[in-house]
Amino acid sequence: MDQIIIFDTTLRDGEQSPGASMNAAEKLRLAVQLERLGVDVMEAGFPAASPGDLEAVRLIASRIRNAQVAALARASKEDIDKAWAAIRDAAHPRIHIFIATSDIHLEHKLRMTRPQVLKAAAEAVRYAKSFTENVEFSAEDGSRSDPDFLCQIFQAAVEAGATTVNLPDTVGYAMPEEYGALICYVLKHTPDIHKVILSVHCHNDLGLATANSLAGLKAGARQVEVTINGIGERAGNTSLEEVVMALYTRRELVGLTTRINTREIHPASRLVSMITGIVVQPNKAVVGANAFAHEAGIHQDGVLKNRMTYEIMEPETIGLSANRLVLGKHSGRHAFKNKLAELGYDLSDKDLNRLFERFKELADKRKEILDEDIEVLVAEEILRVPDKFELDYLTVVTGTVAVPTATVKLRIDGVEAQGAGFGVGPIDATFNTIGKMTHTRSKLVRFSINAISGGTDAQGEVTVRLQENGLVALGKGADPDIFIASAKAYVNGLNRLEYLKNNPSLSAEQRAL
Ligand code: KIV
Ligand code: ZN
Repeated sequence: MDQIIIFDTTLRDGEQSPGASMNAAEKLRLAVQLERLGVDVMEAGFPAASPGDLEAVRLIASRIRNAQVAALARASKEDIDKAWAAIRDAAHPRIHIFIATSDIHLEHKLRMTRPQVLKAAAEAVRYAKSFTENVEFSAEDGSRSDPDFLCQIFQAAVEAGATTVNLPDTVGYAMPEEYGALICYVLKHTPDIHKVILSVHCHNDLGLATANSLAGLKAGARQVEVTINGIGERAGNTSLEEVVMALYTRRELVGLTTRINTREIHPASRLVSMITGIVVQPNKAVVGANAFAHEAGIHQDGVLKNRMTYEIMEPETIGLSANRLVLGKHSGRHAFKNKLAELGYDLSDKDLNRLFERFKELADKRKEILDEDIEVLVAEEILRVPDKFELDYLTVVTGTVAVPTATVKLRIDGVEAQGAGFGVGPIDATFNTIGKMTHTRSKLVRFSINAISGGTDAQGEVTVRLQENGLVALGKGADPDIFIASAKAYVNGLNRLEYLKNNPSLSAEQRAL
């Protein structure tokens, strides 16, 4: 079986999803999970996009030791210098250069001729090669480009030293047979392409990203570019879990493997959703909440008799353990610490004590504490910035006849403050009251709520995205009571905004803590 190179771009193309931007600490946390998942390459960002992006890529490059860390650059010396500055400390750095090749992009965006683009691509690859052996070249909008020009530019890139060439379906326009045929064409008509890896990179505008990527692999491409949960620009990118599980489940038919530890798929999906606040649709293939749920009686009956009747994958394969009960009210500190280690957290004694207290509070309210509950506690406590505002208590009154009212007690710089206010609903009343009490003027640009596990006693996990004068902060809160979870998320977002406002010169890593 041939092994496919999994190139994950959740941290770069995925982050281009509307509202999905992540801070440096969140990116690092995700990078660690991607490494655990076993991706071969992770594209950590686009350093020329902003100083913050450069810092985040640098941070990831300095910590990740097993996977290759790629940085994106346009075909210009300035971009390549920034990309290299960000990844020079990586154990396995890769510079990823792109330039558009379709006539539409050449004429309207780049205003360059084909010979100019060809020259720019070759020069950029040659320049990147002076820093590292490992250079990828991408022909943006490749699927809408003249196939012969594609072959020409790939040949030029290979001659200049590219070790991977990538053919993106940038706008998600291709059909599977068409994309597969284009890959075949390029393999046949680019003289030196067999010396390098040919890669596929598809977008999901017509819901065909996975099908197109698989068609490309079947035609001979050996790298696939993907994101967790398929997040990305517009309708998203090809999703990692779909490609990996299709190759795994149908391995006898397809004959291709990956190095992915499939048991880390579900934790990775959860983490991306928790960090970005982008909830996974329940019917999403592989990682959706309903992906392994059997509602119809006839299906349930079949599954009970033999799982293979209606299940083509075992939930355990993607890390959804059948026995997800982890800890309870009587679990001690030692068991809690072991569980955290199992989930990949190595915390200081101080953080562990803080978290253990929160765990005990939660265990008093819920009988069963699942892995997901613990992940959320970590996100709340460990990603937390020093608190200017603290929520002391919240009471809401609501109902079919009552005017929704919130009474809130906060600690602002340690001093108690109390307030009350109305709203069109209890959450609006809570946010209005907190906003007034803290004299903050942030705009709520996203609010999402998610039940962490099943049952009416599940923790509600709320994510808010707040914006003020160009600064954006994400706040998270979890609690079995969704009003309290919302208030916690809002207060956490305000604290993070406050921290960013007061520390304009901090490095990306410090700004994120
Ligand atoms: O979709 C695309 O064309 C890209 C390139 C930058 C690789 O993301
Ligand atoms: Zn893309």
